Amino acid sequence: MIYTVTLNPAIDYNMSFAQIKPGEVNRSSGEYINYGGKGINVSAVLAQLGVKSSALGFIAGGTGDELEKGVREMGVSCDFVRLTRGMTRINVKLHSDVDTDLNANGPDIDEDALDELLTKTDKMRDGDTVVLAGSVPASLPRDIYVRIARRISDRDIRLAVDAEKELLTSILPYRPFVVKPNTDELSGIFGRKLTDINDVSECASELRKMGAKNVLVSMGSGGALLLDEDGKKHFRAAFIGTAVNTVGAGDSMLAGFLAGADKGYDYALLLGTAAGGAAAFSEGLADKEDIDALINSLP
Ligand SMILES: Nc1ncnc2c1ncn2[C@@H]1O[C@H](COP(=O)(O)OP(=O)(O)OP(=O)(O)O)[C@@H](O)[C@H]1O
Ligand SMILES: [Mg+2]
Repeated sequence: MIYTVTLNPAIDYNMSFAQIKPGEVNRSSGEYINYGGKGINVSAVLAQLGVKSSALGFIAGGTGDELEKGVREMGVSCDFVRLTRGMTRINVKLHSDVDTDLNANGPDIDEDALDELLTKTDKMRDGDTVVLAGSVPASLPRDIYVRIARRISDRDIRLAVDAEKELLTSILPYRPFVVKPNTDELSGIFGRKLTDINDVSECASELRKMGAKNVLVSMGSGGALLLDEDGKKHFRAAFIGTAVNTVGAGDSMLAGFLAGADKGYDYALLLGTAAGGAAAFSEGLADKEDIDALINSLP
């Protein structure tokens, strides 16, 4: 089983406007909802690829019920910790000539709820995968990902980490199966400018030395570089298309990589790149039809 962890999931309420006039009543020309957070995004794309996963994390209040319903409807099973106070956040996304995001903080998560989440990891078994993706809300200890990694370290569980700076580096001693920084995140980790693929490769190699088995660096329309667990380097160019909304391309890529990993790393990188591209070329995340179409378009 693949478990994804989303500490601060959100209902994204998207509204489109021809023009937004601040200080006035603006009427939207269309609305849609996304149920999200990075771990949930990974679960959603895994479901598209026919891979079962279970979404973990924290939800609260009526918006939490709605989020869980939405996630289940995407074909993902849920095992969220339910907080007794507060509500799952609603982020408002305004789409116009420029996009504006109004992101909420989300509910406070207390020690009891944190313990409940950690206890849920006890049912994970050898061969399972845990995806730790996204930032950590202010009410949780910064080392929450390390606590999870430590708690499962007695079993042969694969860790996949998509997070920034020390959230990612602190997991390296636990030998994660894969880490997926984008170039900005990689540059932030090493505090150096990455000017070409050699620089990217050097930093990726450093992350392997620090403990990561596979390092997958996504470079947006520049494609992706994978240093696999044998130290072999794989590069794949991005698919060519018109970028519509690249948010979630990285989450889609990680899902593709995990879904393909047992068929060899070239295939995992291909499936990851196709999922990333399918996400970038569409309004939402990657769906199966679009991923297949990209793979079938290859000579
Ligand atoms: N404009 C694009 N055209 C083609 N492919 C793209 C484009 N943007 C992203 N991709 C594909 O998706 C992969 C992941 O994208 P990116 O590097 O932007 O991830 P990210 O920055 O982690 O995104 P996010 O955190 O928003 O999910 C890329 O390696 C590439 O294969
Ligand atoms: Mg990302």
